[in-house]
Amino acid sequence: MSLDIVILAAGQGTRMRSSLPKVLHPVAGNSMLGHVIHSARQLQPQGIHVVIGHGAELVQARLAGDDLNFVMQDKQLGTGHALAQALPALSADTVLVLYGDVPLIEVPTLQRLLAKASEQQLGLLTVTLEDPTGYGRIVRDAHGQVTAIVEHKDANEAQKSIREGNTGILALPGARLADWMGRLSNNNAQGEYYLTDVIAMAVADGLLVATEQPDDPMEVQGANDRRQLAELERHYQLREARRLMAQGVTLRDPARFDVRGEVTVGRDVLIDINVILEGKVVIEDDVQIGPNCVIKDCTLRKGAVIKANSHLEGAVMGEGSDAGPFARLRPGTVLDAKAHVGNFVELKNAHLGEGAKAGHLSYLGDAEIGARTNIGAGTITCNYDGANKFKTVMGEDVFIGSNSALVAPVEIKAGATTAAGSTITQCVEAGELAVARSRQRNVSGWKRPEKIKKP
Ligand code: UD1
Ligand code: CA
Repeated sequence: MSLDIVILAAGQGTRMRSSLPKVLHPVAGNSMLGHVIHSARQLQPQGIHVVIGHGAELVQARLAGDDLNFVMQDKQLGTGHALAQALPALSADTVLVLYGDVPLIEVPTLQRLLAKASEQQLGLLTVTLEDPTGYGRIVRDAHGQVTAIVEHKDANEAQKSIREGNTGILALPGARLADWMGRLSNNNAQGEYYLTDVIAMAVADGLLVATEQPDDPMEVQGANDRRQLAELERHYQLREARRLMAQGVTLRDPARFDVRGEVTVGRDVLIDINVILEGKVVIEDDVQIGPNCVIKDCTLRKGAVIKANSHLEGAVMGEGSDAGPFARLRPGTVLDAKAHVGNFVELKNAHLGEGAKAGHLSYLGDAEIGARTNIGAGTITCNYDGANKFKTVMGEDVFIGSNSALVAPVEIKAGATTAAGSTITQCVEAGELAVARSRQRNVSGWKRPEKIKKP
């Protein structure tokens, strides 16, 4: 059975009070529409068609992908009109309609829905709500068969008392669509072409309507304002937290933990409060992450330890290495096994060999640092001349004295030492001591200036 997916995303979203089109508002770091497209792709359809209107240019620019067909709906004349715009591009047996502002829909739910759709049957996703105000109501006959959807604004009192609502998500037989779209009218309370009218048409044509429900009503919750957006965000985060806990992660507080990307985890991982994981993060067994850390696009190998208030981006931490508190690892940082980075140390495009240490107050940029080398407090690589970047290379077992300035390009070979306070501008050969500071001079009998007391 072939599948086309149409995502309706042309609406304005006035209640967001935003210059950003509604479907571009983020949940967990990805736009709502991005989430829907991600789910759509997992169903491996022959086509994904996104109906856009408000902010179309921006939506298209942000989400462009080879597998996406954007369809313009210049005027938002209703959900039926929106689907009709995509009609010329549709050719599959089944057409699945999704909403660009309903981001938490789960793939298994859609698979269950699609299993109910055939040439002779529609699949309709419904949700039973305590308060279905605003939703189209599912009207059933005496045998419980669905006969129609009535929009809230068109419903009589009896129909308004129905608690089963239309989620808007449905699977339709493609062969019938052109006929049904051609017969839609806007003769209703809102003067719109309602997609929901196809239900009564299908029943009149002798088709059956089979319903399916999501496991969790939040899957079909849309976001019309920022309050609902925040609810979706918290729900998404709790879902992610539970998924990770099920895989062997201890979260000190699942309510104070955020994932904005794709995280894979090993077992016996410990994550303290207020940790944000962004982008692609790989966390192996026995990793420990302290409170208030932001970790983006990183790989943390077995047993790595990140202490409180550290910020990591594009870094790889080797087995048993540690960083922080207050460490900053910038893109291109690689710590080999058991390397140690302490407080107020910034690394960028820097490689610390096995067991190498930079314990305090340093900037190490564009640096290659050998195994077991010790970087004294306050050491700075001077890697930038205002126009170009240069590299600092250190061999194994080097000892850099505190407050050294290493003016790149420069090399300090294995076993060499630099004296504290040195400004190193030349290569230091293996085993040598480099002293590059002015000699101390003591002036005896020196008199400090004295303040003159005002009368
Ligand atoms: C729709 C359903 C209603 C359902 C509800 C669930 C119809 C007629 N009604 O109502 O039964 O209970 O969703 O939230 O379908 N859109 C377009 N172009 C348009 C109009 C809408 O792309 O011309 C898109 C919107 O961007 C949105 C989706 O379609 O993503 C739904 O539109 P919305 O206006 O929210 O529909 P409702 O009136 O709430
Ligand atoms: Ca709506």
